[in-house]
Amino acid sequence: MKKVTIIGSGNIGLSLAKGLVKSQFASASDITLTRRNVNALAEEASQGFKVSNDNKQAVKDADIVVFAILPQQLKKVLVEVASEIDRDRQIFVSIVSGVSCADLRAELGSDATVIRAMPNTAIAIAQSMTCIASDNASDESLHQVEKMFETVGSVVVINEDLMTSATALCACGIAFFLRAIRAASQGGVEIGFHAHDALKMAVQTAKGAADLLLHTNAHPEGEIDKVTSPKGCTIAGLNEMEHNGFSSAFIKGIKLSADKAGGLYHEG
Ligand SMILES: NC(=O)c1ccc[n+]([C@@H]2O[C@H](COP(=O)([O-])OP(=O)(O)OC[C@H]3O[C@@H](n4cnc5c(N)ncnc54)[C@H](OP(=O)(O)O)[C@@H]3O)[C@@H](O)[C@H]2O)c1
Repeated sequence: MKKVTIIGSGNIGLSLAKGLVKSQFASASDITLTRRNVNALAEEASQGFKVSNDNKQAVKDADIVVFAILPQQLKKVLVEVASEIDRDRQIFVSIVSGVSCADLRAELGSDATVIRAMPNTAIAIAQSMTCIASDNASDESLHQVEKMFETVGSVVVINEDLMTSATALCACGIAFFLRAIRAASQGGVEIGFHAHDALKMAVQTAKGAADLLLHTNAHPEGEIDKVTSPKGCTIAGLNEMEHNGFSSAFIKGIKLSADKAGGLYHEG
């Protein structure tokens, strides 16, 4: 069992901590959670997690240290813990948007093993799509961190230069798919359903579509072919959407988000 310290126990940090315990990656007593307002972690303390507002102390025993704080809070914390870390033994994971492996090592030391992770908000229900990347971690270290994030969803290991693209497709992507579901429910109201029924129908239909692909490993077009009979209503609806730019709008939106994410990283 690994000892994990999570610096910054907010939305994402706590979701990860709970996933680690649920999947038995670590027991609560092997996980240290920090935040400045440590009183806000009373519930987690009662569940057996170690809680602290002392980052320096908290990193000492850890095998894996996760930084889950906001970008503007990171530099101060890295400087704070740099004198306490064990670069030969520990793995440092940052989920902080826009901070490169090189940026992390600039504060932690050039021989620190650093891994970046980009989860999305579905981490709250252990359904995250998390991309991880490193420019210096061993395969074994990467594998450990992959296993860690698999406790809260799926993981793809990518090159670090694709991190902005991962942000657009997976982190921003949550909003894109939610808007698609919202649009479907609005269409449902127009064709006769009450709003709450239309939303329920749209959500479950979207879930079914995603699960079909996950469970069968099928390609979307293969599943689409199964619902589009000649001269039928599905192909008519689909083609009308495409004439109005459905796929094109999605692709353009993802490209613009990736451009913006790259810009933010640069400015950050
Ligand atoms: N939302 C997304 O889709 C997404 C995806 C991937 C990555 N991210 C990144 O994930 C990171 C965390 O996001 P979040 O939503 O979990 O933020 P959050 O809920 O605001 O959590 C940040 C936590 O850090 C704590 N904190 C601040 N300064 C600290 C310090 N000096 N020492 C210890 N703890 C400290 C805060 O608590 P106190 O104020 O009590 O200290 C807070 O609990 C961000 O960098 C974000 O960019 C987000």
